[in-house]
Amino acid sequence: MANLRIPGPTPIPDDVRAALSTQMINHRGPEFAALLERVTEGLRPFFRTESDILIYTCSGTGVLEAAIVNTLSPGDKVLAISIGSFGDRFGAIAETYGAEVERLNIEWGGAAEPDAVRDALRGGDYQAVLVTHNETSTGVENPLRAIAQVVRAESKALLLVDAVSSMGCVPIETDNWGIDVIVTGSQKGWEVPPGLAMAAVGPRGWEAFKRAKMPRFYLDFGKHKDFADKGQPPWTPALPVMFGLDVSLKRMADEGPGAIFDRHAAAAANIRGQMRKLGLELFADERYASNTVTAVKVPTGVDGKALTAKMRTDYDTVIAGGQGKLAGQIFRFGHLGWFEQQELDDAVDALRKTLVDLGYRIPAGASA
Ligand SMILES: Cc1ncc(COP(=O)(O)O)c(C=O)c1O
Repeated sequence: MANLRIPGPTPIPDDVRAALSTQMINHRGPEFAALLERVTEGLRPFFRTESDILIYTCSGTGVLEAAIVNTLSPGDKVLAISIGSFGDRFGAIAETYGAEVERLNIEWGGAAEPDAVRDALRGGDYQAVLVTHNETSTGVENPLRAIAQVVRAESKALLLVDAVSSMGCVPIETDNWGIDVIVTGSQKGWEVPPGLAMAAVGPRGWEAFKRAKMPRFYLDFGKHKDFADKGQPPWTPALPVMFGLDVSLKRMADEGPGAIFDRHAAAAANIRGQMRKLGLELFADERYASNTVTAVKVPTGVDGKALTAKMRTDYDTVIAGGQGKLAGQIFRFGHLGWFEQQELDDAVDALRKTLVDLGYRIPAGASA
């Protein structure tokens, strides 16, 4: 089996894989109600919210869209903070539904510093601020807590957060930090396949929902909440992923949130160190380097596309290339969800061999 080291979908444990083939149940019956309750409560220690957690059958982009259409109206002014391609996407969704989007674009590789957010907010009178917590395309984790503090102190704007590739892997305090809507996707930190996405909606998010006039049907927060209160989904859910999530959340509770966060932090630090030992340069500003995905510059003289292709064909190891304007310039290692250090070490070994095959000379003294 290939060593899958992309930033989602991630490999999944055997007991979760077994759960995926559970026989179907009535999604409007008592077994589903109990399952929904267990899964929702299992998510809570990672979301750190007392508010509603809604479970959607869609990918991460679906709940980004849900965050927008359930809280905003056409013509609303929105500040879209973008540090990479997923930040761009969040802003583009708001624009698609008629929001007046102003952008705070940070050079890729960098994070949105709280001071930059403060300056952008001044005089803007925004209805909402959109921010990506962990920018998977660049391997940068925004300082969300500090950004939230600034948004709360300087404006009345709603804070809508894309935590698709960070929730479940790093500490996030939804209620304490004053986040109004925060979303994530099953295939990232949750040790299950793609197919589900989750959104937490706080009190100010619900107030905004009452006023919001953007069109919505499938993604409607109200429909999800009304049905969840009855122990049901509004629409037919991805039951296999729900069965898997039931098992993975038990695993995650056993490991404990603190230990999971430490495992991710240690793996990320280790990968960054191993890249330096190979003489490679990290793409992200190191102060904000992500604990779930590491982006690395393709060294001069090496073809980035050949690198990922050769690692796959010759060493059965799959890493991600750069997205959009970073195609061929960086490669990305995923270290999120369920993994063991050995798999990361094997992937680094495959990278080292591939680089050598492609003519890269590991600088003297750089190698371990
Ligand atoms: C930060 C972030 N936001 C949004 C998405 C979109 O999620 P999906 O591909 O599940 O729609 C991704 C997926 O990689 C992501 O990493």
